[in-house]
Amino acid sequence: MNDPILLGLSGSLRASSGNRKLLREAARLFGPCTYQEADLRLPLYDGDDEAVDGVPPAVQTLADQIAAADAVIISTPEYNKAPSGVLKNALDWISRTKGGPWRDKPLAVMSASSGRSGGERSQMILRSFMVPFRPRILHGPEMHLAAVGSAFDEDGRLQGDLYISTLQDLMQALRAEVER
Ligand SMILES: Cc1cc2nc3c(=O)[nH]c(=O)nc-3n(C[C@H](O)[C@H](O)[C@H](O)COP(=O)(O)O)c2cc1C
Repeated sequence: MNDPILLGLSGSLRASSGNRKLLREAARLFGPCTYQEADLRLPLYDGDDEAVDGVPPAVQTLADQIAAADAVIISTPEYNKAPSGVLKNALDWISRTKGGPWRDKPLAVMSASSGRSGGERSQMILRSFMVPFRPRILHGPEMHLAAVGSAFDEDGRLQGDLYISTLQDLMQALRAEVER
């Protein structure tokens, strides 16, 4: 069997985003795989544009990537106690594509923020966003990475035994879901 394809969606677009670093560490702990990071720089959803032009190519590419992936990981920052607008916009657009790319897709979600709660509230809201799409979402262990600005070393390695073991357990559960 070929290595599974793992797709990462970061709710933060920053080059040095802690959520992107967390996704990369998650991919490493997932084990052998082909990891791709999705591009969420999409136009803002506008129903008038959709009516004229249909689904933008970048959105269709993203939907196709989700459909082709063996598993997906999403990491969201917490912006004012909720997932980022970037991530919500992407999820809204994907919901307008055909074929239901999320359906039965093994999915792990996580959050990273500078606050003490590690984006716990935003992750809970993200989980509720995903319910209608019916992926095979893992319910745990829950990965909430607090104080994200100091959570990685200069090589991008996650620090802290508890965080590392939680992320490892989550990724091993995701791998088991793929192989199930
Ligand atoms: C508009 C905005 C709102 C924010 N709201 C919160 C918040 O509610 N809780 C929190 O812990 N951090 C909040 N933060 C700080 C983010 O957690 C921090 O910028 C974090 O590094 C974002 O993730 P990133 O490193 O992946 O970009 C906010 C940041 C921005 C820009």
